[in-house]
Amino acid sequence: MIKIKNLYFAYGCDEQRNILDDINLEIKQGELIAFMGANGSGKSTLARLLNYLLKKKSGVIITDDLNYDDENNIYKIRSKVGMVFQNPDNQIVSDIICEDIAFGPENLNLDENEINQRVENALKMVNMFEYKNLLVSNLSGGQKQKIAIAGILAMNPDYIIFDESTSMINDKQDILEQIFDLNRKYQKTIIFITHDVEEAIKFNRLIILDKSKIIFDDTPENIFCAKKKQTKDLILKSNLDLPFTIKFINEIKKHGINLENTLDINLLAEFISKY
Ligand SMILES: Nc1ncnc2c1ncn2[C@@H]1O[C@H](COP(=O)(O)OP(=O)(O)O)[C@@H](O)[C@H]1O
Ligand SMILES: [Mg+2]
Repeated sequence: MIKIKNLYFAYGCDEQRNILDDINLEIKQGELIAFMGANGSGKSTLARLLNYLLKKKSGVIITDDLNYDDENNIYKIRSKVGMVFQNPDNQIVSDIICEDIAFGPENLNLDENEINQRVENALKMVNMFEYKNLLVSNLSGGQKQKIAIAGILAMNPDYIIFDESTSMINDKQDILEQIFDLNRKYQKTIIFITHDVEEAIKFNRLIILDKSKIIFDDTPENIFCAKKKQTKDLILKSNLDLPFTIKFINEIKKHGINLENTLDINLLAEFISKY
């Protein structure tokens, strides 16, 4: 479980400006969570804090039994909470693909068999096994993102943060299914930062950040299908793209057809056929 209480953060160059402003969250082991929010709302900063790449200004962060107040915990925190960066070039350390994936497990002092097994599994999970002996520099942006993902998977962390890490991937639907599979089979906790609302609504829980604060923390249905004007206004204010079904339902309302809000395209089709 990750517990965050009254978390504040500011970058050193501008200590007056809180980039995260009183964040409170509990993330249980095995949860599937999507994060959304406008550019600059603080998503990557929160991810870096959870991975201890940044140090909080005040408040509490505890992952399982590891308190972030104790700097001796940094190594353990980083092996428990893995993070795939937004830009794969910041993550890839070796020229050859399989060597890059092996880098993390080697640092965990695993034996060679275990390392080879992990490299193979991780590369298969992102559909890149046949590329294992090739140079990273020959890969496309999306393929590099897959290598960055495989590098973290090979470390086998309990909590995995994806910071817009599938944005350039062609078969990202397939990669997302693999990520869900990790959650189903091994109870991995997934924190998935994305700009793609269609992706976000596949998660059970959606957290939306706006200007350094959490404005929603609920199921995607409760957020996007809410009837309350206050909720609708808040979504509009946050400038988020709406799911396709909601956009469609809003449009067709203008023609006098009132349909119930749903995120399920099959249900939407059913509503229309009965109209
Ligand atoms: N290294 C940094 N130094 C100073 N300010 C930063 C740094 N990284 C991000 N910021 C600022 O912090 C705010 C939040 O950024 P970020 O966490 O990257 O947001 P998001 O990932 O939601 O786009 C932005 O205003 C950004 O300009
Ligand atoms: Mg970001």
